[in-house]
Amino acid sequence: MTTIESEPTAGEASRSKRLKDATHAVHDGLDRMIMAFDPFSSRTRYGQFLKVQHGFHRDIDALYRDTALGALVADLPDRRRLGLIEDDLADLEIDAPLYVEPAIFRDEGLAELPEALGWLYVAEGSNLGAAILLKQAARLDFSTAFGARHLAGSPQGRARHWRSFVAALDSVALSDADEARVIAGATDAFGRVSGLVQDIFAN
Ligand code: HEM
Repeated sequence: MTTIESEPTAGEASRSKRLKDATHAVHDGLDRMIMAFDPFSSRTRYGQFLKVQHGFHRDIDALYRDTALGALVADLPDRRRLGLIEDDLADLEIDAPLYVEPAIFRDEGLAELPEALGWLYVAEGSNLGAAILLKQAARLDFSTAFGARHLAGSPQGRARHWRSFVAALDSVALSDADEARVIAGATDAFGRVSGLVQDIFAN
């Protein structure tokens, strides 16, 4: 890790803006890929979507317990969504998937903070798009009380909840080399979700 720290200066895009720009194309591709599988056309397809969400959130679950990250994002443990996804799977009477591979992030020592921030950016940002997904899930009679609990917004509102995460994300001082690692983490997170979509929906 280098010791040169870069603070955003006037006119320079914030880290969150740079992340958004750097991952715009992969987000778009993922959005199209998910929609092409028509996940809200049947309970079976929606169940597959839940398994994708489970796979992703199981990979990052340890991040929500990480003390170094928790010091940066005050309400981090409350942002965890794996438990809600498990409840959604139970509502549909689907067993939680069994995994051969270990989760990408594990309790025994995280981590690489820059990459972890990139993965968290993807997970937290996905809760913005979840507003649209929740409306579509309603077509199958799923709601934040049954089957689509993990798509709920925060009681303070999705936008506010997102802005408070972004403020924390943007306030961490990182070296230029570590900035690149945050973006690499976010890109890997999108890649991981795309891989899960392909594996789960193609089977
Ligand atoms: C079909 C599925 C999806 C749709 C329709 C969708 C749609 C959206 C929309 C409309 C926004 C912008 C909301 C706003 O600015 O108010 C958004 C933001 C975002 N979504 Fe998605 N999304 C989908 C899937 C995903 C998935 C699976 C992930 C990652 C696991 C993801 C990650 C993000 C991120 C990180 C942002 C925040 C971008 C930023 O402002 O920096 N999205 N999504």
